[in-house]
Amino acid sequence: MARDKKLIIGNWKMNLGVHEASLYVHKLADQVKSHRDVEVVLAPTILALQTLSVQVNYRQFKLAAQNFYWRDHGAFTGEVSATQLRGIVQYGLVGHSERRHVFHETDKDTRAKVQAALRNGIKPILCIGETASERTMGETSDALYDQLIGGLANVTSEELEDVIIAYEPVWAIGTGNNAVPNDVIAAARAIRHHLKHLYGSRAASSVTILYGGSVTEHSAADYLALSEIDGLLIGGASLDASAFAGIVEKAYQSVKKK
Ligand code: 13P
Repeated sequence: MARDKKLIIGNWKMNLGVHEASLYVHKLADQVKSHRDVEVVLAPTILALQTLSVQVNYRQFKLAAQNFYWRDHGAFTGEVSATQLRGIVQYGLVGHSERRHVFHETDKDTRAKVQAALRNGIKPILCIGETASERTMGETSDALYDQLIGGLANVTSEELEDVIIAYEPVWAIGTGNNAVPNDVIAAARAIRHHLKHLYGSRAASSVTILYGGSVTEHSAADYLALSEIDGLLIGGASLDASAFAGIVEKAYQSVKKK
């Protein structure tokens, strides 16, 4: 994605059922206009993806899977693969803090999922972020480096063009304790610095970086004004269609100002 665009993603986590998801999309469709410089992505429950894929106009919204298994087919009871999601979603979250901490997913799982997404034409959104104690110990940059190496181990510089990096500090997710813009600037610079070391300066400067963690309709504009990041990954504030539409509107305004 070109860096003069903004990417706004709503991660509903385990909220809203199929019917509610459909009503939400009706409401949101009335409230947001299509804009070629703002991409709006919804990550509903996996149950709603099929319905929404028929309902949404992909020029207005894209869809993301919150999770998927890294194998393409086989005897994996209860799992859904990136191959099965192909054609339904354009993006897939990988390595979200809740997957790492609640479901104990490792860097090995994360890297396999990044590969599965790329293999199936789905853009992986690799989520990385330090814990509160890593932050206190001054280890934020090291933690980000480890998670980048862990998730991107087999990714080529060509493939990196399809990877989105989401900086989501663990301490800021769902806590109301959002990272201030200066924290986000420092983290985004650290991420580009690490990527430069791994892939060279062109790849590092063109990769899309998002911020996520307790973003609200009120704080969104402060982040969207930062040239270091390219959009937002929103949890709680995306559950209300009007609040989310308000954030999308702020993204329009931020690209218009440029
Ligand atoms: P909150 O916006 O609820 O803090 O969640 C952020 C997040 O985890 C998005 O993936």
